[in-house]
Amino acid sequence: TTTIEVGMLGLGTVGSGVVERLTQAARKIEQTQGIRLHLAAVAVNHLNAPRAVKLPIGTRLTDSLTNVVCDQRIQLIIEVMGTVATAKSAIKAALNQGKSVVTANKDLIATAGAELTALARRQHCDLFYEASVAGGIPILRTLTDSYATDNIQSVDGIINGTANYILSAMTAGQTYGDALAAAQAAGYAEADPTNDVGGIDAAYKLMILSRFAFGQGLTFQQVAPVGITGLSATICQTVARHGWQIKLLAQATQHNQQLYCRVAPVAVAQTQPLSEIAGVQNAIAVQSDAIGASLYTGPGAGSTATANSVLNDVIVAAQHLVNGQSAVNTALPVNQGAVTNLAD
Ligand code: HSE
Repeated sequence: TTTIEVGMLGLGTVGSGVVERLTQAARKIEQTQGIRLHLAAVAVNHLNAPRAVKLPIGTRLTDSLTNVVCDQRIQLIIEVMGTVATAKSAIKAALNQGKSVVTANKDLIATAGAELTALARRQHCDLFYEASVAGGIPILRTLTDSYATDNIQSVDGIINGTANYILSAMTAGQTYGDALAAAQAAGYAEADPTNDVGGIDAAYKLMILSRFAFGQGLTFQQVAPVGITGLSATICQTVARHGWQIKLLAQATQHNQQLYCRVAPVAVAQTQPLSEIAGVQNAIAVQSDAIGASLYTGPGAGSTATANSVLNDVIVAAQHLVNGQSAVNTALPVNQGAVTNLAD
């Protein structure tokens, strides 16, 4: 058994889940992977903040990011802070020191993923972020591995659980305000739910998905998301009476070297599988030449499911460290085709 020293930045919803999953899965990881993951240090904002999670004995709690990022013994950094600027400089510092990085930070990866991936490549380090899109659904690795030789025509996703929850609740008769409050209480909404209801969170996730599906990044301006704030229970119910469901769809389609994209509320026919995705669930429909039509569904957020994705990335990165393999980050954008917003 080889021990890998791990450092974590952040101990919020996802970070707490990671600590719990690490403890629960330690034996299994040792038995099946021959690796012991030792959580050497965790950086938090406030040392004395109340927390539900119990850190393993011997894990150092610090309020200094540098203390963790620059710890010579730590080989792998988990970033689950959720901020963008601070997380970016911490991840760059970690990669510059040759440490592998696993993050769940979709805002950061959507906007700076190409730059960070290029840095990781130069440093021969892993940079993984499966948890950044659709929380518990292993969609990025599926797109990388299972579609390696296939040609994807389109991805259509329900990738914001909060918006989907609100739309489902409004269709069932709740007001927009009550539905949003319930989504926040369920712990799915971002700290500032503007990103959820404004389609911004879904846009970030589509920007990442597009790199994996089409080898081409999208800018936020190209996606130009439209959110659900203008919708009411009456509209949702009227549409439902006619056999449709309003869904906040994130879509990207490739046709004749051209990429078409949008994030917007769309009326989906009840015959379409995506119309049945209710509540906080996420789903991604992929259409490709070889596999045909596939639908990947599951929890798009939640502490344990998201932490599980983080931990899977950690295991792959740890295996690379043990085997001395240089990392392969497949999501560097390689295509530069024209992009059209479907709403234009
Ligand atoms: N706020 C996000 C959602 C959480 O509602 O889907 C996961 O990214």
